[in-house]
Amino acid sequence: MTPLPPGPDGVVRSTWGIIRDPRGFFEKSVSRYGDPFLMRAMNGPVVVTGKPVFVEQIFRASPDTFSVFARDALIPLLGAGSLLLMEGTRHRAERKRIAPPLHGSCMRTYGNEMQETAQNAIAHYESGANFTGLQIGTDISLNVILKTILGADTAPLLSEFRHLTRKVLSRSWPILFFSPKTQFGFWGLSPLDRLRSAQEQLREKLRAELNRRGDQINHRDDLLSILARSTDDAPAPDFEDLADSIGTLMFAGHETTAVSIAWAFYHLLRHPVWLNRLREELDASDQQAETYAAMPLLKAIVQETLRLNPIVTEVLRIVREPFELGGYDIPVGHGVAAASCLTHYDADIYESPNEFNPQRFLDRTYTPSEYYPFGGGNRRCVGAAFATYELAVVLGTILHSHELELLDQREVVPVRRNITMGPSTGVRLRVRKRR
Ligand code: HEM
Repeated sequence: MTPLPPGPDGVVRSTWGIIRDPRGFFEKSVSRYGDPFLMRAMNGPVVVTGKPVFVEQIFRASPDTFSVFARDALIPLLGAGSLLLMEGTRHRAERKRIAPPLHGSCMRTYGNEMQETAQNAIAHYESGANFTGLQIGTDISLNVILKTILGADTAPLLSEFRHLTRKVLSRSWPILFFSPKTQFGFWGLSPLDRLRSAQEQLREKLRAELNRRGDQINHRDDLLSILARSTDDAPAPDFEDLADSIGTLMFAGHETTAVSIAWAFYHLLRHPVWLNRLREELDASDQQAETYAAMPLLKAIVQETLRLNPIVTEVLRIVREPFELGGYDIPVGHGVAAASCLTHYDADIYESPNEFNPQRFLDRTYTPSEYYPFGGGNRRCVGAAFATYELAVVLGTILHSHELELLDQREVVPVRRNITMGPSTGVRLRVRKRR
């Protein structure tokens, strides 16, 4: 058997490297040890690659080749009923239930909610007010998720769910996800205890809301109601599983989009040529959500933003059946990672990879192993269509009606938030209504 590839020593150093600056750590490792290389991190050894030919092998492998990375460590945080942690037939069945309402014609219904939410969020600021892209992105994406996924349709319900969700997020410390050793109880005071207590409060609210809805769940089109009801093929899920599932959608679907909104503002404001070109198209359009979602230029801007700033810098799997990658036989139990933060900056694929240039996405398409901000294979992000739709609608709506000024004088860099990376300053902005 070919030995594992070489890689940097030091579990603590590697774990710190990936928490603090994954792209920097990966690039340094590749230049020293080659691609793929072996990363020894607290969650176990992982063979990392950014080469499309190997990434394709990972995404095309049969689903049974892999199990979920760090599943045992994540169960206490996300719950066994989370789609992110399911495997095999249960995973396939759950995706079949969740995916349809996040695609196609449902998007048209959600699109108007998304647009209205963006309009309200920006109208909240007086001309000349300062805020961050992350703040407004979080306000918008959280409200969108709460309205469309949870179906929170009254102001008090929205505000209560918003408060409880924020509490869960603010207690989701990165270290809890990266080291199971930090997951211990201590009289209700440890980080895990505090996260659990916030999750419990959110769960109680969900339970109360479902009780309030009663039979209405059979006629409503929010995801909570859709997932809560029985179908011809399956009985209604048990409450704990449903709460895990909804919790994951809220967690996975809100912060990722919020961060992407902030990055898109950042890049557009630093590249007025693209902003002006976009404005001309927005002004000439009918300014409807559906039109924005279908506009090739907006789509290319979103794609280029996610290329430069993949919110999840690598997607991970655990090898369950012997797997060969790049001439190495990866033993069962080892991890493999497809690192988009490496692939997306590969100069053989992307000319001048550090430049923001949406034109590249207007000129050609990239394969799923050259461009994968939403991961790939059977675990590809189930909310990808929802997120790209939302990003286009939000950016189009705000940039059509308002001028934004970038207040950050220095370069904004990605920093760790939890399992995601976000802009160091949040992207500081000043707003003015457009004439
Ligand atoms: C810009 C926004 C988003 C980004 C960058 C993003 C990225 C990702 C990535 C990289 C994965 C892992 C894929 C893999 O392992 O191959 C993932 C999985 C997932 N995402 Fe997203 N996501 C976004 C928005 C959303 C939204 C809006 C939702 C829900 C409404 C969502 C729900 C999920 C779920 C449930 C999974 C687990 C899928 C599975 O394991 O089968 N995401 N996402």
